[in-house]
Amino acid sequence: MNRAYAADGRAIAGGPAAAGDTTAAGGAAAAGGAENGVTAASVAAEPAADKNTPVPFAVLVSGNGTNLQALLDAERSDRLGRGRVALVISDRRGAYALERARLAGKKALLIEADQNLPKEARRRDLSDRILAAVREAQAEFIVLAGFLSILKGPILDTYRERIINIHPSLLPKFGGPGMYGERVHQAVLAAGETVSGCTVHIVDQGTDTGPILLQRTVPVLPKDTPESLAERIHHEEHIAIVDGVLELLSRLGNLDNRRASS
Ligand code: GRF
Repeated sequence: MNRAYAADGRAIAGGPAAAGDTTAAGGAAAAGGAENGVTAASVAAEPAADKNTPVPFAVLVSGNGTNLQALLDAERSDRLGRGRVALVISDRRGAYALERARLAGKKALLIEADQNLPKEARRRDLSDRILAAVREAQAEFIVLAGFLSILKGPILDTYRERIINIHPSLLPKFGGPGMYGERVHQAVLAAGETVSGCTVHIVDQGTDTGPILLQRTVPVLPKDTPESLAERIHHEEHIAIVDGVLELLSRLGNLDNRRASS
């Protein structure tokens, strides 16, 4: 029943913007829709000169961090291409994900929201401090792996089309503000869906609205509870998040190809 596919893939254009530059890079259309996560973008050759150059990235977390663990395991067993986890940031004190990062020998930071600020200012302030940290780590892209805060402001332009998120439903269904954790699975069951799954997508200005990179599906079984459905989907997430990073790396490589040949 599992099916991985790429969809609606706009190519990634430009690197993270230089410090102080909040202008966004442009994007070009890329092929999508192939089965098993293989797209025209992902099979194209990467530039020879850069083939072995590690690509550092940051992972943002809030909780247990099993998706982070999937990335760490993939890196350690050489299944993450050129991707290297350079930095893990949690917005929640006590998130076990931070411990996972430390156990893997990765730099791990706690960057908490300032609860004295009003909501919008709080989101912007948190995002700006995260931006400073990921820049310092020279992260080429950012993975949101169970990150519960909403990013706002310059980070979205600086890392435009270089931030990906994993969501435990088949977006655009069951996404958007307030749709996280158990609530997603409760809504799926209440709607009588027979199929659910997870989505890896590019982060844009909205919540769960950006272009979809890939999805994996699972059946919804008659006796499912939110917990049993979440568990089945979680298993697929651990595959999808690795595939999502590989897909993004491939797109970044394709951009370099286009530049090299122009
Ligand atoms: C996952 O279900 C993910 O889709 C969602 O948050 C959860 C994080 O799980 N965004 P974990 O912390 O990676 O175990």
